[in-house]
Amino acid sequence: MVKMEKSERLKQIPPYLFAEINRKIAAAKRACVDVISLGIGDPDLPTPQPVVEALNRAANDPRNHRYPDYEGMPSFREAVSKWYKRRHNVRLDPDKEVLTLIGSKEGSLHLSLALINPGDAALVPEPAYTTYMTSTILAGGIPYRMALKEENDFLPRLSEVPEDVAARAKIIYVNYPNNPTAAVAAKGFYRELVDFAKDNDVIVCSDNPYSEIGFDGYRPLSFLEVSGAKDVGIELNSLSKPYSMTGWRIAMAVGNPEIIRAMALVKSNVDSGVFNAVQHAGIAALNLPDSVIDANVKVYQQRRDVLCNALEQVGLKVKKPKASLYLWVKVPEGYSSESFAAEVLDKAGVVITPGSAYGGAGQGFFRVSLTVPDARLNEAVERIKKSVKI
Ligand SMILES: Cc1ncc(COP(=O)(O)O)c(C=O)c1O
Repeated sequence: MVKMEKSERLKQIPPYLFAEINRKIAAAKRACVDVISLGIGDPDLPTPQPVVEALNRAANDPRNHRYPDYEGMPSFREAVSKWYKRRHNVRLDPDKEVLTLIGSKEGSLHLSLALINPGDAALVPEPAYTTYMTSTILAGGIPYRMALKEENDFLPRLSEVPEDVAARAKIIYVNYPNNPTAAVAAKGFYRELVDFAKDNDVIVCSDNPYSEIGFDGYRPLSFLEVSGAKDVGIELNSLSKPYSMTGWRIAMAVGNPEIIRAMALVKSNVDSGVFNAVQHAGIAALNLPDSVIDANVKVYQQRRDVLCNALEQVGLKVKKPKASLYLWVKVPEGYSSESFAAEVLDKAGVVITPGSAYGGAGQGFFRVSLTVPDARLNEAVERIKKSVKI
């Protein structure tokens, strides 16, 4: 047996925080508990039928069976460009400013590999989707955590980033509508971000997979809607959430052409692109009438209302989010994020995500997702009400 030693990079990646929860879920299921999972943000609504049909047609065409273009099919990139114009009034050159990705998750790593040298810093929010931190580490960089605090509406205070850290930073990650806090960003914040990027020579990565999930008529922004954004950064977006396509693995990086080119160079050496048939399906999704997204958003909005009301009845204070697929709620007095999540799973058979899974700054909160039907949401809250002391 050869000696296997993990790379120094991999040794720095913290243990998977959901592992213990997954272990408990598996044990509860073995004990025949009907577990309700509000833990993951994976849409339960099906992928629209025209998209499935487009895949079927394309999969039957042998021309699609060969290696795809690394940077994505021109027709997919064209569809992305038209979609951004239609949905966000952002102009993109499909040849230079759009790159097809296997998921926005993948985009973060390839961006880091394209830009980060050992010892460089990346500014990452906390709490956050953990990929920003881990992809920085995998590229040999050092994550600097910007705390997202409730009193600042879960926006980072850019003026509080120490000068020496800003000087060493290559990338700043932002994500609005935010996972896990459900916070949103207004144009003023993005303008400040463009100025910060210019002043400090930092590249902005706006990770925006929830850009279409806004409630009560609110339309989340694209970072690229503010002037000067394309000079300083890119946006990662995805078909995963608006079109219920998480399993299909298709997304896009858009924005600054030099950054897009650098990412494409990394990708051409790491993967061989997205199956052309999936890109044809992606085109079908992007060309669907906006009413398809509106209908899905209506379902999530209704669930948001159901869940907010139910949690309030249980005695938990909830701020109704304007966007995203999540509620971010304070744990009751006397609990930590972990102890409350464990109690809710043990006593009620309901999975919630402890805020601390998104970094230390998430302590004191839990996240629930809106990707289960109303009846299950109500049942989850009923069970919590009956069995957990709040
Ligand atoms: C903030 C954020 N970015 C990226 C992703 C991953 O998206 P994709 O399926 O496009 O990789 C998620 C998924 O939950 C997310 O919450």
